[in-house]
Amino acid sequence: MPYPSSDPRAPIDPAISSPGREGLTGTAPANLYGPASPSEQITVAPDFAPAEAQPAWRQDFPIDWPQDLYVERREFMKFMVLTSGALAIGQLWIALQNWYRDYRGLAPVQRIASVDEIAVGAALSFRYPDEHEPCLLLRLSESEFVAFNQKCTHLSCAVIPRPAEGSWYCPCHEGRFDLRTGAPTAGPPRRPLTRILLDRKGRDIYAVGEEARTL
Ligand code: FES
Repeated sequence: MPYPSSDPRAPIDPAISSPGREGLTGTAPANLYGPASPSEQITVAPDFAPAEAQPAWRQDFPIDWPQDLYVERREFMKFMVLTSGALAIGQLWIALQNWYRDYRGLAPVQRIASVDEIAVGAALSFRYPDEHEPCLLLRLSESEFVAFNQKCTHLSCAVIPRPAEGSWYCPCHEGRFDLRTGAPTAGPPRRPLTRILLDRKGRDIYAVGEEARTL
């Protein structure tokens, strides 16, 4: 069987099926092979069904590189959309809180108790400025009173007064706050308790505002 010339200067026979060139790369008749798979679908599924008809798990865990990269891009986009959504919701929540604070306007003036109702070292619970905010009024001495929102600034467990050790104590994670100032002194809390501003008229004690502090 005559082989094509090994002389590189010899002219190339352009006929695909010219004698002696069968089977060489690029010389096979075009109808020798079946139609090629799409470039992204190299592996054929065992049931020969098209990719769209395959179960979800097979589409999520493809063998072919192009499809695998496609899934990675899809997962990345999903992650980006979810993260952006969460950020947008967070911003909306902050905006709503600001709006609510402005809407609420000035803090109400609310009578808490008469000084005669509370002994030195004792505490009285009340809610201020609305029903959702539990607070405690504590009598430190004959003439000294302090009040704080009861929500721990760590994860909002209720703090309880421990006058003997000079602190407000949070049983959830052993957090402690200074009894007079509400400043964090031990445990995980980093921000002071929200202080309730007090006023005294005659023998009555009033809550007249709140002071949320960061330091
Ligand atoms: S909730 Fe108070 S210390 Fe964690």
